[in-house]
Amino acid sequence: MEKEKLIEEITRLKKERNAIIMAHNYQLPEVQDIADFLGDSLELARKAVNVDADVIVFAGVDFMAETAKILNPEKTVLIPARGATCAMANMLTVKHILEAKKEYPDAPVVLYVNSTAETKALADVTVTSANAAKVVSKLDSDVVIFGPDKNLGHYVAKMTGKKIIPVPPNGHCYVHRKFTLEDVERARKLYPNAKLMVHPECEPEVQEQADIIVSTGGMIKRAPEWNEWVVFTEREMVYRLQKLYPNIKFHPAREDATCIGMKAITLQHVYESLRDMKYRVEVPKETAEKARKAIERMLEMS
Ligand code: 13P
Ligand code: SF4
Repeated sequence: MEKEKLIEEITRLKKERNAIIMAHNYQLPEVQDIADFLGDSLELARKAVNVDADVIVFAGVDFMAETAKILNPEKTVLIPARGATCAMANMLTVKHILEAKKEYPDAPVVLYVNSTAETKALADVTVTSANAAKVVSKLDSDVVIFGPDKNLGHYVAKMTGKKIIPVPPNGHCYVHRKFTLEDVERARKLYPNAKLMVHPECEPEVQEQADIIVSTGGMIKRAPEWNEWVVFTEREMVYRLQKLYPNIKFHPAREDATCIGMKAITLQHVYESLRDMKYRVEVPKETAEKARKAIERMLEMS
């Protein structure tokens, strides 16, 4: 089907189903352009609490769609493609958490929302990259079990002075791990006037070179502080920023920083999702109830 026709059909089906399309900032431009709400993980979780629709089509990766379902158990949540998964979230298992808890029984378990519902059910509180330092600083403990992103854990330890016990020992995002000091050097040579905006999932040595370390939502909020940026995160973020701020220059730090899970969703998938009401996101009731407490605590604390 032609792009225009697809958009027409999506608009028609959205009305028919009383549906809303929520999308993450890393989605393909064609998907970003048809979204009713675009945001970072925290903004999407917040929005999910107050959705005034019967159906949420979630264009993002599975843990984000699960979070929307956990916060809206009575609504239908659809994820348009089966392959839309977060490799980092899948690195953390229940076993990792139970083992860490055995060793540090008094330490709270703080999980990045980039985690499965099953592991979230064991968390005291969840965090996103937008609020991790704030939430951890408010916890009444100097030692915190934190996962699955070791680099975000490093950032939180630096900001709060607390001891972070990483679960698993080496959890990471393969997209953000691509960025190196060579990319920083190249960026500085090519764009001497530019400042660097860096996602906290990047390696500590790259974080050290940043002008600002921020979530994707933070990138949007703080971009107007300067007129030229090199962007150290998934490449589609540049599309999002450039569309919002046509008068500011944005350069991707690497063209190949692509999240395969995020790119699994196309306009055609969104159309088929609404047409066939697939793929329904389900979270077992008991898991969802426990995970909801950890997510709601985050929303209260940030
Ligand atoms: P944000 O919450 O900053 O959008 O990050 C989500 C994510 O998956 C980053 O890789
Ligand atoms: Fe997960 Fe990394 Fe993709 Fe974000 S960019 S969804 S952390 S794999």
